Formats: sequence, C-alpha cells, structure tokens
Amino acid sequence: MKILRTIPEVRSAVRDARAAGRTVGLVPTMGAFHDGHLSLMRAARAATDLVVVSLFVNPTQFGPTEDLAAYPRDEARDAALAEQQGVDILFAPEPAEIYPDGFATNIHVAEVTEVLDGASRGAFHFDGVATVVTKLFGIVRPDVAFFGQKDAQQVLVIRRVVRDLDLDVRIEACPIVREPDGLAMSSRNVYLDADARQQATALNHALDAAAQLHASGERDAARIVAAAERVLADAGIRPDHLELRSNDDLSPLTHVDRDALLAVAARVGAARLIDNHILIAE
Ligand code: PAJ
Repeated sequence: MKILRTIPEVRSAVRDARAAGRTVGLVPTMGAFHDGHLSLMRAARAATDLVVVSLFVNPTQFGPTEDLAAYPRDEARDAALAEQQGVDILFAPEPAEIYPDGFATNIHVAEVTEVLDGASRGAFHFDGVATVVTKLFGIVRPDVAFFGQKDAQQVLVIRRVVRDLDLDVRIEACPIVREPDGLAMSSRNVYLDADARQQATALNHALDAAAQLHASGERDAARIVAAAERVLADAGIRPDHLELRSNDDLSPLTHVDRDALLAVAARVGAARLIDNHILIAE
C-alpha cells in the first residue's frame, strides 16, 4: 500500500491504473478506523481493481463548537488496518493540499440538507461534506465510491450532488456495522465513559422498538416515533432529533406508505451520536 500526500501523486497513480484497464474504487474517511470503515474497504476491494482510501479530517464540516481538535487521529494504526484490507492507496493530505490559499468554492445542496443533522448541526456541515467529497471525486475520479448507511443523510446528499452535477461515479451505500450490543460503530464512541457507553445502547434499542411496531403493521408515523421516544426517555436520553422521513427526499411522513428513514441524533455523555433504521415498505 502506498501512502500519498499530494493530488498530483494520486492523479498519476490512478491514471496508470486506468490506462491498464483497471476500475477505481474510493472510500472517503476521516480516519480512526473501526469495523465500519473496514467494511467499506472490503466492499471496495471486492468490487473494484484499484482501491483508494482518503484519510482527511475535513475542517470545514466541523462547527466552531464541535470536536475538530479532539477528533481521534492515529495515522500509523489506520495505515496498518487499511493495508490489511488490501487497500492500494491511502491518500492522507495536509489541509493546505485540499484547501490552498484562495480556496473559494462551496457546494451547497438544498432541501435534503435542511432537516435532521443539517438542522441540528447547521448547514455548514453538509456544505463541508459535499465540497470535500466533490473534490475527492475530482482528484480520484473513481468508478465507484463507498459510503456507510450509518450516515444516511450524508448518502442522500452525495447522491444528490452526483445527480445534479452529472458526476460519473456510482455511489454504493453499505450496511451499518454494529458492536455486539447493537451500538453503531463510530469514531466518536471513544468519547464515551462506561456509563455513557451503556446508555448509548438505547439508541439502537429505540430504533428497534419502532421497527418492530412497523413490522407488526403499524403505519402511523407518530405512533412509531413514540415507541422509540419511550425507550430513549427510559434511558434518560433527550434526542437532538428523532424523526421518520421519506428515504428519498427526507420529506416528513405522517403515514408510512413507502421506504422510510427513522433517524436519531443525541448527546450521550461527551459524544454526539447518530443512528438510523430504514423501514422498508412492503
Ligand atoms: P467518517 O465519519 O470517517 O466515515 C467514513 C465512512 O465510514 C462514511 O461513509 C461513514 O458512513 C462510514 N461509517 C462510519 N461508521 C460506520 C458504521 N458503523 N457502519 C458502516 N459505515 C460506517 O463520513 C465521513 O467520515 C466524512 O463525512 C467524509 C465522507 C469522509 C467527508 O469528510
């Protein structure tokens, strides 16, 4: 596995692979790898010939009061894990390589960014994500890019960018990888102390309770959400948001007559965690 720092180096490596007829897969990440990240790398390894993983803690998607400075960083460990998954190129640029002096472009997606995490965290968050991912697509020009369903709204935002800007890349959304007790894996789980770690399991339990009610035939959105709310309340968690929305345009649902995204975000101990379940229409 090569570790590359500059855009010209990545372009040249990808150009050589493409000239040899190889397909290119990209896994964008911010590092602090866990099994969720590794599952994306394995999916890329299985589906494409040249696997590029980007490791860049993107400053523009963090708010001034968020955890940019504290965000866990361990490149040596991450590089070893990526290599074990058969990754070919780890692209780990310095911030100035991505945002040189004079950088002035912002990709803003409307609508799907205005609810859930876009409302809780602010519009800057998905602007930062859309802009850096569009840049990564421009640098690597992947055939396929792999994202986790853990960040369901992020997947919808990226799909919208690809569609609206006619980017020639296929987006693969991969399933949420969970700890044995159901907690969705996240780089931010390291912020949880023992009590908060225990409390955090309520997020998935709450989504499960709502999904079970849906599976039993309930279609009233308020009742489905209320089932999840009760589990969170019992665990002493007050969510930033807990909402059931259409899984294509994130429009609100009162009656669940199509595929729906049940999404939760909550502060648990020192971490802000998100999780979601898709409720599939019959
Ligand atoms: P990061 O949080 O490092 O996540 C990188 C990728 O791993 C994302 O696609 C995310 O959805 C996926 N992922 C995280 N936890 C997962 C889990 N438990 N199961 C499955 N996939 C999981 O998301 C970002 O970085 C950034 O916003 C990025 C897209 C890199 C842009 O900066």
